[in-house]
Amino acid sequence: MLPPKREIGLANTHATHSTNGIGDSEGATQVAMHNYRGKNVFVAGGTSGLNLGLAVAFAEAGANVAVLSRRQERVDAAVSQLRADGATALGFSADVRDSAAVDAAIASAAAAWGPLDVVVSGAAGNFLAPAAGLSANGFKTIIDIDLIGTFNVLRACWSHLRKPGAAILNISAAQSWLPTPLQIHVCAAKAGIDQVTRTLAMEWGGAGVRVNSIAPGPIADTEGMRRLATTEAAHLAWTECVPLKRFGSMTDISNAALWLCSTQASYITGVVLPVDGGLALGGSSGISQAMAQ
Ligand code: COA
Ligand code: NAP
Repeated sequence: MLPPKREIGLANTHATHSTNGIGDSEGATQVAMHNYRGKNVFVAGGTSGLNLGLAVAFAEAGANVAVLSRRQERVDAAVSQLRADGATALGFSADVRDSAAVDAAIASAAAAWGPLDVVVSGAAGNFLAPAAGLSANGFKTIIDIDLIGTFNVLRACWSHLRKPGAAILNISAAQSWLPTPLQIHVCAAKAGIDQVTRTLAMEWGGAGVRVNSIAPGPIADTEGMRRLATTEAAHLAWTECVPLKRFGSMTDISNAALWLCSTQASYITGVVLPVDGGLALGGSSGISQAMAQ
């Protein structure tokens, strides 16, 4: 039987909890069970890495899942993967900087399935660059993809959301809070996304639409971290900055996202939830170690 109308994610009726206990340094190994059967999920940037992981997690929880990104071959591969897993899936080749193309893709998904229950906005770009060596267009490119792209996705989905009941999930990053050298473009773009999250939570709350965000820390085996930790030393330095002393996993991200978009979180809106092992605390463990020597 499908879940009742306003319920997204009847979570944990048959919970499959992690085989690891509290305090296990390796983290969860399985995505906790949620029920998104019959729900319509749109993932912008959902054809690789962390966003594809989210698309798969929503599909495994029973949702119909649409993904959008620029490269047709990636879109095709993601849709094939989702369908091979048994999901109903759609794919759209579009650039989030092209608002008309985003409008058309989201309208098409809603025309096929009906109102959208969950919209994830996660398309992004990144590279390391010192501010003084970054061209105006380099800075603008990241603002255009991450921040304006997120605005384009959210504005386009508004008229296609299930009201009340829909949940928006923006993908932020620890850089939105932590000033990070060589990342001025990403820090600015992701901080902007956080304010978009809070502002839309206020504007759309009256319609019963929740708007939240997760801010991942370093997630293992992703393009983002391949770009930010290019050497073993850099990898170790990132790990050292994380109070839990490990990179996050796709399971860590999926568990947070599926919970935050579910009815278990139905009174939560406007939050930017760090899923980062404590990275955003910006703690002083390095200083403490130095003082102890
Ligand atoms: N260092 C400094 N500037 C860079 C750069 C780098 N490593 N890579 C690109 N730029 C600059 C370019 O020089 C250009 O500026 P210019 O016109 O003044 O020369 C500007 O950024 C745009 O580059 P372009 O290659 O035309 O952008 P694009 O729109 O084709 O691609 C990127 C966007 C650059 C972000 C590309 O890396 C991408 O598509 N990334 C998606 C995947 C990704 O980043 N994943 C991690 C997500 S966290
Ligand atoms: P990724 O694998 O490179 O994923 C980026 C996705 O966005 C791809 O599907 C890409 O597909 C799409 N995309 C990029 N530019 C686009 C555009 N202009 N229009 C439409 N789609 C576009 O990166 P990732 O590392 O998994 O990161 C995914 C998200 O998590 C990003 O928002 C990132 O900031 C965030 N994040 C990641 C980490 C991490 O540790 N990896 C940490 C914090 C936050 P196409 O190339 O086909 O367009």
